[in-house]
Amino acid sequence: MSGKKSVKDVDVSGKRVLLRVDFNTPISPAGEVADDTKIRESLPTINYLISKGAKVLVMSHLGRPKGKQDPKLSLAPAARRLEALLGRPVRMLPDCIGPEVEKAVESMKPGDLVLLENLRFHAGEEANDSSFARQLASLGDIFVNDAFGTAHRAHASTAGIARYLPAVMGFLMAKEVEVLSRLLSNPGRPFVAVLGGAKISDKIGLVRNLATLADVVLTGGGIANTLLVASGYGLGRSIVDKESLGEAKQMLTAAGQGKIQLPVDLVAARAVDSPEGVNVQVSKFPADMMALDIGRETCLRYAKEIGKAATVFWNGPMGVVESDAFAAGTLSVARAIAECKGITVVGGGDSVGALEKAGVTGKITHVSTGGGASLEFIEGRELPGIACLLDR
Ligand code: 3PG
Repeated sequence: MSGKKSVKDVDVSGKRVLLRVDFNTPISPAGEVADDTKIRESLPTINYLISKGAKVLVMSHLGRPKGKQDPKLSLAPAARRLEALLGRPVRMLPDCIGPEVEKAVESMKPGDLVLLENLRFHAGEEANDSSFARQLASLGDIFVNDAFGTAHRAHASTAGIARYLPAVMGFLMAKEVEVLSRLLSNPGRPFVAVLGGAKISDKIGLVRNLATLADVVLTGGGIANTLLVASGYGLGRSIVDKESLGEAKQMLTAAGQGKIQLPVDLVAARAVDSPEGVNVQVSKFPADMMALDIGRETCLRYAKEIGKAATVFWNGPMGVVESDAFAAGTLSVARAIAECKGITVVGGGDSVGALEKAGVTGKITHVSTGGGASLEFIEGRELPGIACLLDR
């Protein structure tokens, strides 16, 4: 548990509640929400606030408009989706601060709900500007943060606002914190971490922390390429994070024999857009090829480790999952995790997408709504959107 107060610890009835959610969802070319997971996950807090007779002001960002109005990044599609999910009208306001918003909020009654327009249309949001945070805060009596996916950002609506209002967490935030905290302290063992993705430099802290927390770290993707080269293998034209080689070597030495596992074979091809690859041993990697997926033998070994686990955490694809020719390794990991009888936790857009592609999302204990946020949490970093909330 986080030791932070939750929405159940405050009296919200008749109060104006500023609810920060993460409705940063993909939008289809037709202008509709393409994946409503984050919206659905925020429903328990929204429904609770409505049932308690709060006046609910839902706020979120969408995309990265960099302080400028951009109709393509309006939250209107999210309002339509929320309306459908709640089965009641959702009033969308034209801005998130200003006289028009103030007027609309004044006329709200207990149980009413409005959605404010994209917070990032104002530069003050990402700058965590105190005057912008104060303007937002003036609209409400209580701040509820349910935006776990944005908890690693110290922005006005995720952190700054907590200086001016009593600040507590919503149910989604509480669930994410509870599940992810269990990985950090006292996880069921064996604890197997599976880490992939393109660049090791983004995840050095994560790999290092997981090498301490987990019993085994299985690696794939660009991360594994860099670790393999750091161990002395030649990987031809594969993508390798050359600047991180020294650190990768140190990490392998510090972790000790067998802790961080590297692929024993890889799927190699001449180019990312090749229609197919060849399965090769890492010790015989062709000089004119690049590694684009983990190989068959590695898939079997990893599935065996995952099968024995009491806890699994997975982040990052094992190869170029966008191409059918190089998706097998990632899909095999997804299936092995789905079959694991232990607690399974998956975070990060590509891994979550792979679960869907493999048709196994429902078989995972917890699919995190936070990509960057879940990584920073597991890395052991303090997240500003959680740190700012009231202690119990
Ligand atoms: C996410 O989708 O990861 C969050 O909404 C954060 O978005 P950001 O990376 O643009 O801050």
